[in-house]
Formats: sequence, structure tokens, C-alpha cells
Amino acid sequence: MMKRKAVATAALVLALGATVAAGAAAEGVSYRKAADMLYRVMSADREVYTRMVVQRLAVDAKVVAASEHFEDDTALPLPAQMFRFGAEMVMDETEDFSYALLSLNPINRKNGPATDLEKKGLRFVVDNEGENFYGEEELGGERYFAAVYPDYAVVEACVQCHNGHKDSPRRDLRVGDVMGAVVIRIPIEE
Ligand code: HEC
Repeated sequence: MMKRKAVATAALVLALGATVAAGAAAEGVSYRKAADMLYRVMSADREVYTRMVVQRLAVDAKVVAASEHFEDDTALPLPAQMFRFGAEMVMDETEDFSYALLSLNPINRKNGPATDLEKKGLRFVVDNEGENFYGEEELGGERYFAAVYPDYAVVEACVQCHNGHKDSPRRDLRVGDVMGAVVIRIPIEE
């Protein structure tokens, strides 16, 4: 009997704990935290695709190529293209957030900064190594929270391909440079 009561009490304490936890979750996470979490997933997926698919199959084993013209070449899309296709799909499916991989010196002009905040954020992550940029902006009468995360030339292949690409406005990139940034935008609920 005592034992059952102890179990019941424990269950009640657990239930209360769960309610308190749910209450905290219901208050919601900050825009910054939400953007940081989205960025974690994006950058993990990007790195997994780069290392476990492109590097392993195209660079090391050479069983298939990775090419910008992947459709004509029956090749793997480049990591930046994979990223953009995902971003375009999200844009078609939801207005809860949007994201893009941008650069001040883009190979693809679509990937250049379009708003003042994007320009400022891209400049900030180039000038302030290791720091992210967070801000707010108004677009078309709506307020947005925006977060900008630096994208580094982590391997030689990044700079070789970009420096040698016919559409690249920059030829002097080096390993370790900030090549661009991921911009995540979330509409602010009034
Ligand atoms: C084989 C060539 C190649 C390699 C390797 C490569 N890129 Fe790119 N990158 C491209 C192309 C082509 C685009 C434009 C893709 C598009 O159409 O959106 C691009 C786009 C980008 C962009 C968006 C701005 C722009 O230039 O259009 C960034 C930032 C970027 N790459 C960073 C990197 C980083 C960092 C690495 C290494 C981890 C890397 N790239 C490796 C070819 C390459």
C-alpha cells in the first residue's frame, strides 16, 4: 500500500515536472535560438553531403563526378546547389522562415545580397572572424528577424573551384577565408 502510494506520488511529481517543462516550451524559444537551431541542421546536412557523398564518391573513389551541370553530366549536384534546392523547396512550402547561401562575390548572381541587412551582415561576418550577425529588417511592410552565419573555405577544393570558375568575380580566395554566409530570416509575429 505504502509502495503504491509512493509510486503514485512519484507519478504525480513526474506529471508536474512534465507540465512545468511543457509550460516553458509553450513560452517559445527566441528568434535567435530558433535560427541557431535551424542553422545547426543546415550546416550538418551540408557537411555530411560534402564529406560522405561528394568527397567520398567524386573526389576519393571517383565513381561519379560532382558537377554544376549535373543533369547533362549525370553527375552529383554541387553542395551549394543542393543547399539552394532545399532552400527553394522550403520557400515554396512555408512562410515560417526562409534561408539562402549568399556571398558578396557570388558565382551565381542569384546568390548576391538583396537587402541592406544582407549586405551589412555579409560584410560583418567577413570583418569579424568567428562572429555571427543578428538583426531585424522591414520588407514589404513585414518585420523580420535575420541571422547571418559565416561560410568558410574549409578545404582547398572550395577556393580552387571558385577562383577558377568563369563566373566568379574573385580569383584570390584562400583556405580559411569567409566565402559567404548563410542567411536565415523569420517573420516577427506582432
Ligand atoms: C566544383 C566547384 C565548386 C566547389 C568545389 C565549391 N563550390 Fe561553392 N559554388 C560553386 C558554384 C557553381 C556555385 C553557384 C551555385 C548556384 O548555382 O547556386 C557555388 C556557390 C557557392 C556559394 C554561394 C555564393 C556563390 O558563389 O554563388 C558559397 C558561399 C560557396 N559556394 C562556398 C563554397 C565553399 C565554402 C566550398 C567548399 C566547402 C565550395 N563552395 C565548394 C562551385 C563550387
